Amino acid sequence: MGRPHIEPFCDRDVHFKNMTLPGMGKGFRYKMLSLDNETGACSMTVQLDGGYKRPPGFSWSEYELMVQEGEIQFGNKTYRRGHYFYVPAGYSMSSLKSKDGALLLMMFNTGGPSHVSSRSHHQQCNPALYHDVSSFDDIPWAGGGVTSPTVASGCMVKLLNYNPNSMALTFLYCMTPDFWQDNISYHDCAEESYHLWGTSWMMQFGEIPTGGYFWRPAYINHGAFASNLGCIALGRTDSKLFNHFHYNPWTTPKENQLRSAARLQRRDPILYNWMVSTSHNHPHGPEDFERTMPLMGKRKIKTPDDFSNSDNPGHSFDREMKYEEHAPEHIHDDDSHGHSHGHHHDHDHSDGHDHGHTHD
Ligand SMILES: [Fe+2]
Repeated sequence: MGRPHIEPFCDRDVHFKNMTLPGMGKGFRYKMLSLDNETGACSMTVQLDGGYKRPPGFSWSEYELMVQEGEIQFGNKTYRRGHYFYVPAGYSMSSLKSKDGALLLMMFNTGGPSHVSSRSHHQQCNPALYHDVSSFDDIPWAGGGVTSPTVASGCMVKLLNYNPNSMALTFLYCMTPDFWQDNISYHDCAEESYHLWGTSWMMQFGEIPTGGYFWRPAYINHGAFASNLGCIALGRTDSKLFNHFHYNPWTTPKENQLRSAARLQRRDPILYNWMVSTSHNHPHGPEDFERTMPLMGKRKIKTPDDFSNSDNPGHSFDREMKYEEHAPEHIHDDDSHGHSHGHHHDHDHSDGHDHGHTHD
């Protein structure tokens, strides 16, 4: 099932609870931000009380940790605000202490929080995956273009972790003062954010203040965006990030998913057809709402009649729009030149299966 949609939410609105899971130690308090109730994977705001101590050991789950306020010590080393740790499952960390207390962000990715006392790594651990960094000090801000198309200018990132198998990302991002972006986004991945400082605004969910959080499953519209004074946040995705941008605030997650599949079908038609075919390769893709929804102004969507005298029956009528007046006569999309798919709309539909299209 995965984690449910948590949004809007601010951890300042709820109280800390005492952690009672074995091995986590006394003085470990938490606010649950999101929880996968099948695996126990979760994200938490954590308060370590002054004097907190935990012996060396490992977790059965990989986890990520960010120091928000105060100081912690692993062994003899002290870590402060902005320090980020990626700790693989089974990786034994030195003893953990906090003399005066610390506010952390902790994310257990593959199982619930756990701590097993051990001075050595688990035999199946891959210790080479471990890394930590003082993210505020030791990584420069880069433009937001970790993917294309990308966010508006003024949203900057620092990449903290990348999983080459799932393409999941962990990153710091900031919005500069007076940042704005006027389009609507959704993604093929879940997206998570925790505001370390500052406030940003989203059309659907309002203001996200310091301590604001969301876990947002795939295909949910979000944006436009703005930030008056700027903000800094920790963001994550659970798989490959791609920005599907558009300007229709009324679309549903199902319609967004179909549009995403339609874009995959146009980009990788052979792969798509192989993936969806069972007994035959069906030539039609799913519906892309941007290509079929009514539009303002003088454009209209073509109907089958518009193509009745066409000299190019290979065109896809439901994917092409035409100006009624004024040149250019046609707006050609990248796949509307009749050479790529070779499918014809006069083919025999007597096999009776449902094409989900309205062309007859
Ligand atoms: Fe997003």
